[in-house]
Amino acid sequence: MADLTFNKIAGAVLATGLAITGLIQLSSGVFSKEPVTKPGFAVEVAADTSGGGPAAPEVPPDWGTVLPKADVAAGQATFAKCQSCHSLTANGTGPDLAGVEGRKPGTEPGFSYSPAMTAFGGKQSIWDYEHIFEFIKNPQAYISGTKMTFVGLKNPEDRINVIAYLHTQGSSLPIPAPNPAAAAKGAATTGPAPGTGPAAGAPAGAAATAPTATGTTASAGVAGAGAGAQSGGPAGQGKGAPGGAPNQETTANPGSAGSTRK
Ligand code: HEC
Repeated sequence: MADLTFNKIAGAVLATGLAITGLIQLSSGVFSKEPVTKPGFAVEVAADTSGGGPAAPEVPPDWGTVLPKADVAAGQATFAKCQSCHSLTANGTGPDLAGVEGRKPGTEPGFSYSPAMTAFGGKQSIWDYEHIFEFIKNPQAYISGTKMTFVGLKNPEDRINVIAYLHTQGSSLPIPAPNPAAAAKGAATTGPAPGTGPAAGAPAGAAATAPTATGTTASAGVAGAGAGAQSGGPAGQGKGAPGGAPNQETTANPGSAGSTRK
């Protein structure tokens, strides 16, 4: 009898022990420890490979539209920044820039260019407005390895004005005829940048009232006014309409005027 009681108690203790051991084994299987490979929270941030540089290609201006109305005096003032290295009479730290528009890159006699610039000249036959515009925005990003250690002119307006100024300094490139389709595209993207509708409308009005307004420049003005209206509402149109009207009478281009007013 006493033996039986002892056996019962011993059995219960054993069973409890077994159960505990089993539970430990079980739980270690369920809550298994895993070695931490990544400490803390992994916050996924997309790597910025753009470098803030040439990521977003600019819509190139329509040179036939922007050059005739560019501010050459402002361009000359901006050119002061270039003059620490460039002159228009001789080579210095940088090559002589007289006549650079239309010149083959890396070919000013007597200047020792970087291999990068010489290579650029191998694939780009001339410095046209387009390529100067892109190059002076961020020279080192545009032609990696260039000796031109200049931060660049970020403002497209500054670059257009400098290019217009350089055009007066022995350019062999003609100013192309305005291409209103490209102008409208350019206006649509550069228009909202200054911020307000009236501001965008003002230059459009100026284009329409330009004394040399022909059929094509007038319609370029109209295209610009359309873009102005897009971003600024009736203000841009109002600015353009009165200015454009007298010219359109003389140049007999009522068709486009009527179509935009409607
Ligand atoms: C810090 C000096 C420096 C400044 C400032 C500078 N440049 Fe240059 N530029 C150079 C050098 C050096 C080269 C030759 C680059 C090479 O060989 O890689 C050059 C080359 C050029 C070329 C190519 C010329 C050719 O013959 O192929 C153009 C165009 C040009 N610069 C325009 C400008 C304009 C416009 C500005 C002002 C907005 C300017 N640069 C400011 C130093 C400068």
